[in-house]
This record gives sequence, C-alpha cells and structure tokens, in this order.
Amino acid sequence: MSQTSDAFGKADPIDIDSAVSVRGVSKNYGEVEALRDLSLEFPRGQLTSLLGPSGCGKTTLLKIIAGLIPATAGEIEIDGRKVTGPGPDRAFVFQDFALLPWANVLRNVSFGLELRGVGKSEREAVAEKYIGNVGLSGFEKAYPHELSGGMRQRVGLARALSVDAQVLLLDEPFSAVDEQNRRKFQEDLLALVRNENKTFIFVTHSIEEAVYISDQIAILLPRPSRVSEIIRPTSFRGTKADNIRRSPEYLDIVDQIWASLRNYVE
Ligand SMILES: Nc1ncnc2c1ncn2[C@@H]1O[C@H](COP(=O)(O)OP(=O)(O)O)[C@@H](O)[C@H]1O
Ligand SMILES: [Mg+2]
Repeated sequence: MSQTSDAFGKADPIDIDSAVSVRGVSKNYGEVEALRDLSLEFPRGQLTSLLGPSGCGKTTLLKIIAGLIPATAGEIEIDGRKVTGPGPDRAFVFQDFALLPWANVLRNVSFGLELRGVGKSEREAVAEKYIGNVGLSGFEKAYPHELSGGMRQRVGLARALSVDAQVLLLDEPFSAVDEQNRRKFQEDLLALVRNENKTFIFVTHSIEEAVYISDQIAILLPRPSRVSEIIRPTSFRGTKADNIRRSPEYLDIVDQIWASLRNYVE
C-alpha cells in the first residue's frame, strides 16, 4: 500500500478487537430523523472521533451508546452484549460536565467509586493516580469554583477513568476550553489513549482536533445523519505530539476532510 492510502486508510476492514459495535441504528425524534441506518465499529485501545456539523446526530449517537435513550431501530453491542440501558462499563463525560460543587477535586474524582462502596483509602489511591494522569496533581484540595473550565473537564475525565469504565464517551469536552488549555488537554488525552486499553469515543466539530487525536475518524453528514467516510490517520501516530501538526499527512488529511465537509457548512 502506498504512503498516501496508508495515511488515508479508507475502508480497510478492521481486524482488531472491536469493543463497541453500532449496527443499523436509526433514531427518530417525532418527525425529526436524527440518525438513519448507521453502522460503526469502535476498536478497543483507540480513540474514534465522530466529526460532523452541528445537528448531525453526534450527541444522539453517544446517548444511544450510553443507553440513556433507546434507538428507534438497530442495536448496540458492547463486548458482544446488547445495550439495553446505562451500565458501569460506559462513562459519559458531558459537554457541560456537572461536578459536585461542595466537594473538592479528590472527592469528585473518587465519587463514582464511593457510590460503589469502595473503601476510602483504596478509592483515593485510584483517584490520585488519575488526577495525576489528567495533569491535575496539586489540585486535589481545590473546589470546582476555583478551577478553570478546562480543569473542570479534566476532573470529569479523571472521574470517568477512576470507575474503570471500558468505554469513555466524550461529548465535545474541549468546547468551553481556551486554546492553550485545549492543546495541553489534547496531548494528555493522546497519552491516556496510549496507556489505557479503553475505547474512547470522542465527539468534535473541529477537523484539526479530530485529525490530531484520532486513530479513526467517522465523518457524519447531516439530514439524516449517516457515515460518509472513515479515515484512519495512521502515518503520524507514532510521532511525538509536538510534531503531528507539522507532518504533511496531517495537513493532507485536514484538507481532505474539509473538502468533504465544506458543502455542508450553513
Ligand atoms: N430531544 C430531542 N427532541 C427532538 N429533536 C431532537 C432532540 N435531540 C436532538 N434532536 C434533533 O436531532 C438532530 C441531531 O441532534 P444532536 O444529536 O444533538 O446533533 P449534534 O450533537 O451533532 O449537534 C437535530 O436535528 C436536533 O435538533
Ligand atoms: Mg451535540
């Protein structure tokens, strides 16, 4: 295979372990057809982005995978089991993540484990680890109102990682975060995906962000939403985080996706 088709990696069947399978999912809200016959595989140990214009059903698909709303047709399987509702195998990091305002960072991150009856020293040890991994060491005693939007998102991610959910659902987690924090958080997320053998499903409407952090990008087109293309930016995945944005393949893929999406900009 040539360098270019490797980089664009289109439509090769996935031969790796797929943790989440979306099969023929449709969703109607009354008259509104939000998703039509959508099928996608989400490999374990990788980050897949859902990229598309607003209103194309990205949040709807995440909610169906989370089991928060039912599909009108089709099914979701997690490790071969059909999704019938929410479960501890999946953790949703919401767009406007709600933390407990009366609890400090350590308590917020360990709260999911507290609910499961895990003892204090054990849950705090786990929480400390993930507070470190998301770059918040030193902020254990801080309260949500003392943190920036970006830091609050990190607390939400650390909480999702602490409960050891196998599937992490991130709905535009960087949307309320300033550019510098966004870049730092993207780098940390890349490292997390490498180090945790979990399935990350990441919603974004930023082409650059998707290409920077994704192993696989599903491009969704609107009305009704369907997968128009799957792109696997493989050729620069091994390079240092700092060098990705300068690699020719990165720039080529960004251009290619923009060419696909430009007709759908309102
Ligand atoms: N609860 C709802 N009731 C009715 N229509 C909805 C509801 N949620 C989403 N929609 C519609 O479904 C479509 C997809 O929405 P959404 O999944 O939020 O898209 P995205 O996250 O890509 O912006 C949009 O047309 C939206 O207006
Ligand atoms: Mg949305």
